[in-house]
Amino acid sequence: MNEPSRATRALAIISLIVAVLAAFALCFAYWLTSSTQVLGGLLALALFAAGAGLTLWGRGYMQHEIVEGEREPLASSEEEWNELARDIQTGADTIGRRRFLVGALCAFAGALGIAGISFLRSLVPHVPTKVLWHTPWKHGVRLVKLDGSPIKADELPVDSFAVVFPEGHIDNLSGATNLVRVKEDLLDLPPEQKSWAVKGIVAYSRICTHAGCPVAQYEDSKHVFSCPCHQSVFNVLNGAVPIGGPATRPLPQLPLGVDSAGYLIATSDFKSPVGPGFWSIK
Ligand code: FES
Repeated sequence: MNEPSRATRALAIISLIVAVLAAFALCFAYWLTSSTQVLGGLLALALFAAGAGLTLWGRGYMQHEIVEGEREPLASSEEEWNELARDIQTGADTIGRRRFLVGALCAFAGALGIAGISFLRSLVPHVPTKVLWHTPWKHGVRLVKLDGSPIKADELPVDSFAVVFPEGHIDNLSGATNLVRVKEDLLDLPPEQKSWAVKGIVAYSRICTHAGCPVAQYEDSKHVFSCPCHQSVFNVLNGAVPIGGPATRPLPQLPLGVDSAGYLIATSDFKSPVGPGFWSIK
């Protein structure tokens, strides 16, 4: 039987130790981070290191030379019996060393099993965190353009389109909003949303309810928004209900008002969460 070199054995042991450590790290990482890159990287490292360790270990004991010989009489000589006894003894020594291999494999499988059980938690619906329900919009917050300038309701031409943000929160993408002015009599909003428009001006979240891309295009001849990612189309006139593409939920509408200086303001936050669906919002 072949004996692996010291270097091969050391590499195999190091690989198996790395596999066990990576599997344990995976258990902890699941609870500490939601980064799929970290979780996937640790899982890949654990599996790769285990595979490398087993391969090195196995190759170390394999016979590498080709042995040829004359067919000999079937009866074994005394020398052959002695050689067999020595081989069996060598095997017994090797089995002792294999305890480490078996132990390392058990530790690896155990850690990977615990990580797998942790992952089952992901199948349980979570209560969405507050951040999904709230944006910086609230009563009295002015609508401003990217340069920070507020917008007077009377200065917005019919059929115009603008991207607006809550004043003081231009860098907060959850508040990004599309603002459109149409002829007032064209609007056909749901009854509870009629008072959210001002003089034909309506505002809807800019984040697509399909997968979160910016709803960046407005076609004023048809009064529709379209999302460039997967071509969802939303009807601006009736509450941004989806009329094409994969989105199933309307873009949330921002209730609008006008302050004493004539500038457009929000009268509250969006009434439904912005962005793609999640566990309790389809
Ligand atoms: S993200 Fe808008 S259609 Fe998919």
